[in-house]
Amino acid sequence: MSLPASTPFVPFANSIYSLMEDKNGNGNNLEWGEIVAEVSIMLNAGSDTTAIAMNNVMYQLLKNPDKLARLREEIDSVLQPEEVVAPYDKVKHLPYLRACLDEALRITPPTSFGLPRKTPAEGATIAGDFIPGNTTVAISAYVAHRDETVFPEAESFIPERWLGENSKELQPYFISFSAGARGCIGRNISYLEQTVLLATVVHRYNFALPAPDWEQSRAETTNLSPGPMPLKVWRRDLQEATKEVVA
Ligand code: HEM
Repeated sequence: MSLPASTPFVPFANSIYSLMEDKNGNGNNLEWGEIVAEVSIMLNAGSDTTAIAMNNVMYQLLKNPDKLARLREEIDSVLQPEEVVAPYDKVKHLPYLRACLDEALRITPPTSFGLPRKTPAEGATIAGDFIPGNTTVAISAYVAHRDETVFPEAESFIPERWLGENSKELQPYFISFSAGARGCIGRNISYLEQTVLLATVVHRYNFALPAPDWEQSRAETTNLSPGPMPLKVWRRDLQEATKEVVA
């Protein structure tokens, strides 16, 4: 059973249905504990993380109006004034948009908790030190992303660092989605959601923080959870904006 495409939250609702029964309508007969675990992954791993990432990139853009202006210019050049939700095909390859997402994910990785891993029985050499076998090791992405030898001016929001040839060299040090066999399997779908949502809201609305020096609180749980962000929101005059881009 599937829902009509116009139904809100279709991807999530259809995921639940596909847990309960296969595409021919035959019950999967999963144990209750397994259903709870799957739903928990969809809600916790798949929703909170992306929501935090969206909060963080908006916060950084509002704190850095010159970067927001550059992003708007890129988005306005591909979207029509009347487009309410940005079509993914139009925005999926915008380099500055992706650079803004990655830079916010770098400064404030939604999952900042050091994810534990166990060394193999024979031990392992990690960053030049020998660690005995069966030892739990972890590194927080929040800390790793502040290594000034890799990310100069690490506390500053500089999307430009992700553009150009040298940006490829940064990728092995970017661990917001972890890495290796247990790395995030939802990374691509999250980029899709973030790309469409950021392009849509930046194109259609103006935002203002309570004051230019306003700072958001954060609580370190498993995720780095942001506190409230009161915003003034109002519609942009898109006819005017388009004229500016054309001129
Ligand atoms: C910005 C958004 C996201 C971030 C920062 C993020 C981050 C992470 C991280 C760091 C891990 C590794 C956990 C570990 O090593 O113990 C992970 C795993 C996972 N993520 Fe994501 N995630 C995001 C979005 C999503 C989405 C949208 C989904 C699903 C639709 C998802 C599903 C999962 C699952 C199922 C795992 C476990 C993979 C495994 O253990 O094999 N994530 N995520």
